[in-house]
Amino acid sequence: MHFVAIAIDGPAASGKSSVARRVAEHFGFLFINSGAMYRAFTWWVLENRVNPSDATAVLSLLQRSRFECGLQGRESIIRIDGRAVTEDFMRREDVNASVSTIAAIPEVRRALVAQQQHFCSMGDLVMEGRDIGTVVIPETPYKFYLDASAEVRVRRRRAQGIDDNIRDRDLKDSSRDTAPLRPADDAQRIDTSHLTLEEVTEKVIQTLHVEGVRRREPPRQVMSWVYNLTYALCKAFFGIAYAMEVHHAERARIPGGAYFASNHASFLDPPLVGTALEEPIFYLARNTLFKPPIFSWLLPRLNTVPVDRDNAELSSLRVSMQIVKEGKKMVVFPEGTRTPDGSLQPAQRGVGMLVAKTGVPVIPVRIFGSFEAFPRTSKFPKLDGKIHVVFGHPIHFSEEELTAKGKAGQQVISDRVMQAIASLTVPDGTS
Ligand code: CDP
Ligand code: CDP
Repeated sequence: MHFVAIAIDGPAASGKSSVARRVAEHFGFLFINSGAMYRAFTWWVLENRVNPSDATAVLSLLQRSRFECGLQGRESIIRIDGRAVTEDFMRREDVNASVSTIAAIPEVRRALVAQQQHFCSMGDLVMEGRDIGTVVIPETPYKFYLDASAEVRVRRRRAQGIDDNIRDRDLKDSSRDTAPLRPADDAQRIDTSHLTLEEVTEKVIQTLHVEGVRRREPPRQVMSWVYNLTYALCKAFFGIAYAMEVHHAERARIPGGAYFASNHASFLDPPLVGTALEEPIFYLARNTLFKPPIFSWLLPRLNTVPVDRDNAELSSLRVSMQIVKEGKKMVVFPEGTRTPDGSLQPAQRGVGMLVAKTGVPVIPVRIFGSFEAFPRTSKFPKLDGKIHVVFGHPIHFSEEELTAKGKAGQQVISDRVMQAIASLTVPDGTS
């Protein structure tokens, strides 16, 4: 799929972040703050007591650090060697003072630009920074360059209560050899000195509308009447028998192929995930389940794909990859089998393998109450109790995670998925 990428560049306090975030919200796009990556790495340099002016030492730190750029909801987040880099760390005074020195090192830029470009394969986005229109995504037709007089920008920063020598930073950013701050020739320039944030945002959105950028709604797939009917019956049954409640279904509304990764406690889980969603999804089932004629007719109409029993692993892998590559979504159960006692089990490697090979995002799902309703040990479901289905934020894996070699790398992905499932809880205020 080809995604829309919008570049917003400009000097410090020109309003890039605030405007980019609003534009991203308007279109339902991802918001990527590239400055945060330079800030995060600068914080790491200082944290490790490396001298920011010693490029060799900085590069050696870069090489031995694991830099992960991912998404939380629709916004970029950064972890270094497993530590989340918070906004407080990135806005520190010593980070402000050193970030431009670090950002002038060509090898640092090369590494971070690759991460930024990787985001462009994850979805439609708005990315802001200094060199987005000139270096990171020069091919995009949607470029803006925000500016404001130095006095206005200094005043804005001061009003934020932040100690930041932006004149010094601007000078370093625009005079460096590699990717200096400058407007792309084809960028629309906006002087924001006398405009409010709302006015600037409106201007950018208007331009994009005229250029044909539209909100991308997730593609709706046609449900067969059998899927429709079964969906309605199951939904009604889960509502009546278990007062089923769905939380954060909006997090599942992302374009393109993805895996829903759910905990597995009961035969009820596949239809629970299916009816918690608004669009049809795909399932895998052993091909022996397709033997009875009624099932061989019904299951394909319920988007269930048979897996060869004698060669289950290979065949399920191939089919599961093909489905998401076609832009569809599929349910997988990282634990592999239903839990024997209601507790979460460790993740098997399978889901990590699927993700590593397809690169699609994973939406964690946690089902509460299905074990109590219909555990492995029961022949029939109990018709009372309460069921909750909770969706987590989509996980977009970084290039490093996807390309980490071998079984261990895949297991790391599986474990991260399982952790995300385990961290989901029923929101407060619900029964
Ligand atoms: O928010 P503010 O405009 O003050 O800065 P930022 O966007 O967080 O960026 C901090 C620093 O990172 C900048 O001063 C640049 O030195 C560097 N940077 C860069 O070199 N290239 C980018 N695409 C983004 C930021
Ligand atoms: O990302 P960048 O450093 O370019 O700027 P920002 O962090 O989005 O904006 C810096 C501050 O200026 C924020 O407090 C904005 O609310 C404010 N601002 C403003 O008052 N009017 C504008 N037209 C743009 C930004």
